[in-house]
Amino acid sequence: MAHPSTYQPDTGIERWLDARLPIPRLMHDQFMTFPTPRNLNYWWTFGGILSFMLVAQIATGVVLAMHYAPTETGAFDSIEKIMRDVNWGWLLRYSHAVGASMFFLAVYIHTLRGLYYGSYKAPREVLWILGVLILLLMIATAFMGYSLVWGQMSFWAVTVITNLFSSLDSVVPGMGTRLVEWIWGGFAVGGHTLNRLYSLHYLFPFLISGVVVLHIWALHIPGNNNPTGIDVKTAKDVVPFHPYYTIKDGFALAAFILLFAALVFYAPNLLSHPDNYIPANPLQTPPHIVPEWYFLPFYAILRAIPNKLFGVAGLMASISILFLVPWLDTSKVRSTRYRPIYKWFFWAFVVTCFALGYLGSQQPEGWYLVFGRIFTLYYFAFFLVVMPAVGLIERPRGLPGSITEPVLGPEKVRVPPAPAPAPAAPRKRKPEEVA
Ligand code: HEM
Repeated sequence: MAHPSTYQPDTGIERWLDARLPIPRLMHDQFMTFPTPRNLNYWWTFGGILSFMLVAQIATGVVLAMHYAPTETGAFDSIEKIMRDVNWGWLLRYSHAVGASMFFLAVYIHTLRGLYYGSYKAPREVLWILGVLILLLMIATAFMGYSLVWGQMSFWAVTVITNLFSSLDSVVPGMGTRLVEWIWGGFAVGGHTLNRLYSLHYLFPFLISGVVVLHIWALHIPGNNNPTGIDVKTAKDVVPFHPYYTIKDGFALAAFILLFAALVFYAPNLLSHPDNYIPANPLQTPPHIVPEWYFLPFYAILRAIPNKLFGVAGLMASISILFLVPWLDTSKVRSTRYRPIYKWFFWAFVVTCFALGYLGSQQPEGWYLVFGRIFTLYYFAFFLVVMPAVGLIERPRGLPGSITEPVLGPEKVRVPPAPAPAPAAPRKRKPEEVA
C-alpha cells in the first residue's frame, strides 16, 4: 500500500547509502512501518513461513549439491554417502526431503486461504497469477528433485511423467515420441536425463525466488486483503507491520518449525516411499508407482480420465485453471465468511482435494476409479460452474462497516463527559477569622 516514507537515516553511512541505493529505506517502509490490516488471523502467517522454507530449501540444497554425483552409477550411492559419511549429512538430507513436504503443506494452506478470503479478486489479480506461477515452478522443482535420488520410485516416476508427452502422438503422429526422446537425451531415461534434471533442479529455486520478489511487490501495491475482505478505509484499520506482525509471524513460524523438526528427527521417512531405498532398476517396474503425497490429487485426476491425451490435459488444467479464478468468480463479496451458499461448495472442494489425494494413492480400479471420476468432475465443476453461478444467485450476509468494527465493536457515539461541577468558590473569611 503506497504510504509516505518515514525513514530517517541516523548515521553518516546510512545517509550516504540512502542517497545512492536506499535499501534500508525500502526495508523500513515495506517491512517495518508497512500499514497492515489490524485483523489478520493466523492463516496470514503462511506467506512468511513459505519465505522461510524457500530459503531453507536453497541453503540445504546447495550444501547437498556439494556431495551429490548426478551420474547414473553414482547418484544413489552418493546419497547413501551423504547419509552415512558426510558430517551432518543425514540432517541436511532429511531437512531437505522433509522440507519439500513442509513447503507444499504451507503452500496448499496459503492457496486455500487465498481462495477462502477472495484474495485473488481485484486489485490483487497479478499477485494471484504470480502465486500460481510459483506453484507451477514448485511442482516442477519437486518433481526434478525427487528424480535425483535415483531409487526405484524416482526412476519410474520420471519414466511415467516424461512419457506423458508421448500422448501428443495422437495430435501429430511422431511429435510426442520425438519430444520425449529430446527430454530424455536418448531413447530411455538414463544418465543424460538425470544430469539435465539436476541442472534444472538447481536453477528453478532461483527462478522461484525471483517470482517471489515480484509476488511480494505485487502484494505491497494494494496491500493485504483481510478476513472480512473489505478494503482499508481509515488509518484506524491498519497497524504497522513491526512489531505486530513480526511477532505474530515469528510465533507461527516457531510452531511450524517444531512440527518440521519433529518429522526430521522422529519420523524422517514417514512421508516417503520405501521403494526409493532400492537403487533404480530399468529392468524391473515396481508393481505400484505412486508420487509423493503432495502430487496425489493431480495423479488421481490424470488416472480418472480414460484417454491418455485428455488425462494429461486434465492434469495440466487442474493447476492452470487457478490462473482464471479472478475472472471465474462473479461474486461482489470477497470473503467466504459472508457467502452463505458458496461456503458449502468451498468446503466440499476442500473435501474433494483430500479425497483425490487418497484415491491417487490407490490402484485405479473398481470403486476407487468410480469415486476418482466423481471427485474429478466436482473439482472442475467447482471452478467452472460453482464460481460463476453462485456469485450471481447468492445474497451475501451484511458486511461490517469497517475492518475495525468486528475487532473493537461498532464505534460508539462518543458522549462528551459531563462537565465536572465547578469547585465551590472559597468562602470569604471574616477579618476576625483571619486574625
Ligand atoms: C514460495 C511460495 C510463496 C511465497 C514465499 C509467498 C509469499 C507470500 C507472502 C510473504 C505473502 C504476504 C503474507 C501472507 O498473506 O501470508 C503472500 C501473500 C499472498 N500470496 Fe503468496 N507466496 C507463495 C506462493 C503463493 C501461491 C502458490 C499463491 C496462490 C496460488 C499465493 C497467493 C497469495 C495471495 C493471493 C496473497 C495475498 C494474501 C492476502 O493479503 O489476502 N502465494 N505470499
